[in-house]
Amino acid sequence: MAEAVSFGVLVLNQISKAGLERLPAGRYLTGKDIAEPDAILVRSADLHGREIPASVQAVARAGAGTNNIPVPALSARGVPVFNAPGGNANAVKELVLAGMLMAARRLGQAQRFVDTLDAAGGDLEKVVEEGKKAFAGFELCHQTLGVIGLGKVGALVADAAIKLGMHVTGYDPDITVEAAWSLPSQVQRATSVEDVLKHCLFVTLHVPLVPATRHLVGAKNLPLMQADGVLLNFSREGVVDDAAVLAALDAKQLGHYVCDFPNATILRHPGVIALPHLGASTREAEDNCAVMVADQLRDYLEHGNIRNA
Ligand code: MLT
Repeated sequence: MAEAVSFGVLVLNQISKAGLERLPAGRYLTGKDIAEPDAILVRSADLHGREIPASVQAVARAGAGTNNIPVPALSARGVPVFNAPGGNANAVKELVLAGMLMAARRLGQAQRFVDTLDAAGGDLEKVVEEGKKAFAGFELCHQTLGVIGLGKVGALVADAAIKLGMHVTGYDPDITVEAAWSLPSQVQRATSVEDVLKHCLFVTLHVPLVPATRHLVGAKNLPLMQADGVLLNFSREGVVDDAAVLAALDAKQLGHYVCDFPNATILRHPGVIALPHLGASTREAEDNCAVMVADQLRDYLEHGNIRNA
């Protein structure tokens, strides 16, 4: 005889099957229409301002950040919030590398150029000839990269960039001793955000959005960057002041801004490469994050254990 369902988990986004399978049918009911859930599982759904039923004992986010969860209000109710730190770090690292290459090799513009001529039945030899002239780029090897935030993603980006032959400088006032020890020895240490902006051609941000990091890069320090510098933001939107980015691009104080947010204010600027928050969107990262949080939920609901992976 099948075991009776004991826990209802309200699932508000598409969550990988690998994760949902950790909450076995029979013991768990998962879905988007559960009236009195024991737990809520989300990816991007914003829970701020949304009524969270009194039955909820835990909330889980299948991702690293918890900006879409009212953590203090839930903590005050004694409801733990689980997340998946590091579960998508490799996926984000790979997209940061792609972002650097998109800017350095002008891949977005080159692709649009090919599409236009192809659609017009263009002469392929001419496309190649003109493309080579118009889109000559530069190599990452031997360039300088500044990594602001040396947590799980920042450390992976630093390591990959060193392997590509880049000179890497890191800055993180809150780095843990353990994280500092695990960084590659080639990573130079900067003393401030400004120090990084001044000395590195590429600068990538890997910090959470908290009051201290809102507009960490903005009008006060963006002009320190090199005229052909590339600023990459695959962390959170408010970490960079978009208006200041537009001003810096227009004033030729910055070459490119690569971000993982399709923000209407900036996205039509030719110096901006904006992606639709794809950092964590790989099969592997989605599975990892969903499995990590489903296991934590299960451990909490069934045994009362609180752990964050
Ligand atoms: C994260 O915080 O790890 C990402 O926002 C995850 C996602 O894209 O869902």
